Amino acid sequence: MKLKNTDELNALKIQNLVLLENRRVPNNSANTSESQDRPRHVMVCGGTGCHASNSPEIAKLLIQELQRRGLSDKVQVLQTGCFGFCEKGPILEIHPDNVLYVEVSTEDVADIVEEHFIQGKLVERLLYIDPNTEKRFASDLPFYHSQLRIALRNCSYIAPEDIREYIAADGYQALSKVLFNMSPTSVIEEIKKSGLRGRGGGGFPTGTKWELTRQNEAKQRYIICNADEGDPGAFMDRSILEGDPHSVLEAMLIAGSSIGASHGFIYIRAEYPLAIHRLEIAIKQARQYGLLGEKILGSEFCFDVEIKYGAGAFVCGEETALIHSIEGTRGEPSVKPPFPAQQGLWGKPTCVNNVETLANIPPIILKGADWYAGIGTEKSKGTKVFALAGKVNNVGLVEVPMGTTLRKIIFDIGGGIKRHKSFKAAQTGGPSGGCIPAKHLDTPIDYESLIAIGSMMGSGGLIVMDEGDCMVNIAKFFLEFTVDESCGRCTACRVGTKRLHEILTKITEGKGALDDLDKLEKLCKTIKVSSLCGLGQSAPNPILSTIEYFRDEYLAHIVDKTCPAGVCKSLLRYHITDKCKGCTLCAKHCPAGCITGSTKDRHIIDQERCLKCGACMEKCHFGAISHH
Ligand SMILES: Cc1cc2nc3c(=O)[nH]c(=O)nc-3n(C[C@H](O)[C@H](O)[C@H](O)COP(=O)(O)O)c2cc1C
Ligand code: SF4
Ligand code: SF4
Ligand code: SF4
Ligand code: FES
Repeated sequence: MKLKNTDELNALKIQNLVLLENRRVPNNSANTSESQDRPRHVMVCGGTGCHASNSPEIAKLLIQELQRRGLSDKVQVLQTGCFGFCEKGPILEIHPDNVLYVEVSTEDVADIVEEHFIQGKLVERLLYIDPNTEKRFASDLPFYHSQLRIALRNCSYIAPEDIREYIAADGYQALSKVLFNMSPTSVIEEIKKSGLRGRGGGGFPTGTKWELTRQNEAKQRYIICNADEGDPGAFMDRSILEGDPHSVLEAMLIAGSSIGASHGFIYIRAEYPLAIHRLEIAIKQARQYGLLGEKILGSEFCFDVEIKYGAGAFVCGEETALIHSIEGTRGEPSVKPPFPAQQGLWGKPTCVNNVETLANIPPIILKGADWYAGIGTEKSKGTKVFALAGKVNNVGLVEVPMGTTLRKIIFDIGGGIKRHKSFKAAQTGGPSGGCIPAKHLDTPIDYESLIAIGSMMGSGGLIVMDEGDCMVNIAKFFLEFTVDESCGRCTACRVGTKRLHEILTKITEGKGALDDLDKLEKLCKTIKVSSLCGLGQSAPNPILSTIEYFRDEYLAHIVDKTCPAGVCKSLLRYHITDKCKGCTLCAKHCPAGCITGSTKDRHIIDQERCLKCGACMEKCHFGAISHH
């Protein structure tokens, strides 16, 4: 059915409000226990993480079991996007009961139906238990306490494959407001006033980018949604597209009508099959409802979108490389200016925006710039989504107001460091970011403060490291990535990052010299100023920040020839202590045959022949082997 005007959109919204009436609104923990007799919705997480842990099968079995027990008309099962709490997936939430079950498996399905729906009691073993307090939670998990979900507002709240759910949740209302109650320039002014900045890494003001694109005279202009998301460990954009694809389409429509573009592209990683699938469904449904295509909602505005698959290289996320990739040429960055807003796709003014940036647009239009600008810090407004990874208890996706401290994200939301180890550093900004030490845990994070402490916001990767991580090795790991991903166009980036990697390898092998630190710093500075694109310009950040904050670890590798964290293999020395009982097990498992000793006597390792494989330490039942 094609919607011919706003009245029809509003009527459709009212008609479908019933779909959501039993759902607890995100960020609102209203007690719903009085509504036991209302029909229930089981929202099963259908994000990639839970998908991989069998959540579609859980949903299927739940439907079958509910049918078998005669409850199909009282309980509906739906698949959503990511809940953010991926560490504890698969997750399912029951509305309006306000109950969240974690680590659900197919074997739990019969108990959920019997205990929760028939006996009306909680399935205790599936409730979240806080590892620090051992308290059980059916709702209001500490993980969500300090979060504010704007970009992720609909992920886990609606079924993303049904446009009616999005429409019931105010979907396409912002588009309707823009088309009938606002002028393109007033929309741009509103976005400028909101203070929204690009979430793809650069932090450029979004409204200004739209204005610049609109100002350039042309018969055709384009809007591109950048969903390339190449940072290792990042999955913010994927989750938004999986959980709320229409919000991105609606934002592209709004951007298109404001900058004067009738065509949009979504450039997405081909490695994101679920996000692509949900986007394809969303585009098809939006066309069926007349929300994409000719004369949208009866206005003069015509707009359509096309999906383009990423070429599989990190550098293709850089906007000019991305444009070349869509044009069918090599995905290499080009010199700016001209900026895409001046001469972009096929030479036409083009606005490139990141997925998360776009997901913020509809709520800004609906709730107003002042509301959005009231969240965050002086120069960084709104919220930021982070992919929390590494040695933290609650690995997942979190959305917090700008200005939240790292301590809050890692310890309150993230539940602290795994296995009660101590925090060493947090890496923000993906391979281009820096490592932030404990002394900066209380810095309120925003674009500027992260740069001031040697890192950057990047697209939102946040990797936590503990005492067991070697910072020299971490810097080497990120350099490996940039060496592989450099497109090779500039000598400084192509050759320079390789040399940096060689020096770091030398240091981790115990062959470093003191002047290597000066060489590293000098080369880093040269690469930063002489590289063409952000990849080369920021590749040295992990080295510069670790030298600044963890110089003692570099010195330990270079001067003392030791790796304090016990990570760099070449620097390890395995040693048998006097706890040895002479059981001979280690000698039997040593691949180099370099452990000798008689039964019941303390054994000895021949250091010259030892391969540092650690097999002996693993096998010893008496903890008699140590390394340093
Ligand atoms: C090497 C490199 C990779 C990038 N990868 C991405 C990416 O995957 N997604 C993204 O949105 N921006 C990426 N960017 C930033 C884009 O060039 C561009 O600034 C961004 O898409 C603009 O959107 P925004 O203003 O909404 O942030 C990358 C930049 C560089 C230098
Ligand atoms: S800085 Fe590196 S990735 Fe960027 S254009 Fe130059 S060689 Fe290519
Ligand atoms: S396995 Fe342990 S106890 Fe047995 S010989 Fe080796 S070091 Fe000694
Ligand atoms: S670390 Fe490996 S090679 Fe070295 S002594 Fe132990 S088992 Fe043998
Ligand atoms: S994918 Fe299920 S909680 Fe993230």
